[in-house]
Amino acid sequence: MALVSLEVVGKTYRGRSGAYEAVRDFSLELAEGEFFCLLGTSGCGKTTVLNMLAGFEAPTAGRITLDGRPVSKPAAERGVVFQGTDSLYDWLNARDNIAFGLRLAGVGRAERRAVAERFLALVGLAGAGDKHPAELSGGMKQRIQIARALANNPRMLLMDEPFGALDAMTRNILQAELTRIWQEARKTVLFITHDIEEACALATRIGVMKRGPGGTLKTVVPVDLPFPRDRTSDAFMAIFRHVHAAIREEIVAA
Ligand SMILES: Nc1ncnc2c1ncn2[C@@H]1O[C@H](COP(=O)(O)OP(=O)(O)OP(=O)(O)O)[C@@H](O)[C@H]1O
Ligand SMILES: [Mg+2]
Repeated sequence: MALVSLEVVGKTYRGRSGAYEAVRDFSLELAEGEFFCLLGTSGCGKTTVLNMLAGFEAPTAGRITLDGRPVSKPAAERGVVFQGTDSLYDWLNARDNIAFGLRLAGVGRAERRAVAERFLALVGLAGAGDKHPAELSGGMKQRIQIARALANNPRMLLMDEPFGALDAMTRNILQAELTRIWQEARKTVLFITHDIEEACALATRIGVMKRGPGGTLKTVVPVDLPFPRDRTSDAFMAIFRHVHAAIREEIVAA
């Protein structure tokens, strides 16, 4: 059975400017342990899909389930890493940011500390636990966000362009780190990006969305290449070209 299932999911926003159908007939099943990258032009509905899976927004059509149970609100089983780097609690140090969910769950102080230290080490920041967000670089803040999501031991990670605001070099380092963490932590990941190369480097499957209104999955491309990926190999470039062509059509049509 699939871990996550979206069945003909739709989302129509209703606001002062009228109704807007952001997502229509979006169907997808994610198997446990897969790394699914969702790509598409700006405004096609990627964040809307992630927000529904996170439980921040309710679908206006269709059904979303995790392990067969309907998703209706945010929960620790679905860890979210947000777009941009300012979603950490700036009054808490890195360790307490990571342990925040554990504190809510009533986990004791010594265990919280041990878990936080373990995940600091996993994201390559052992020793940075006392630093506050203002003392961390953008790349470090993204690592802390990933550690914070993982510390709750979620079934899946939902990541919305987590590396979008970073320079190319930091981005490359974090991509490699994320692959290592994913392989070690064995989580199911939904990862949103604008970057085709990033998707080809990270994903086990890539979903390309059609532009909105009524954004929906247009095609799903499996990426059966070993890790770490050789971005200059013919096989990698063939997948890049395939995905690029699918997105290109959406840009041209817009
Ligand atoms: N709360 C809202 N109320 C009304 N419309 C919204 C709301 N949130 C998003 N939309 C609209 O829904 C569409 C999809 O938005 P969404 O944020 O999902 O796009 P996206 O694919 O994540 O884009 P980007 O790549 O720029 O982040 C957009 O046209 C947007 O204007
Ligand atoms: Mg978005």
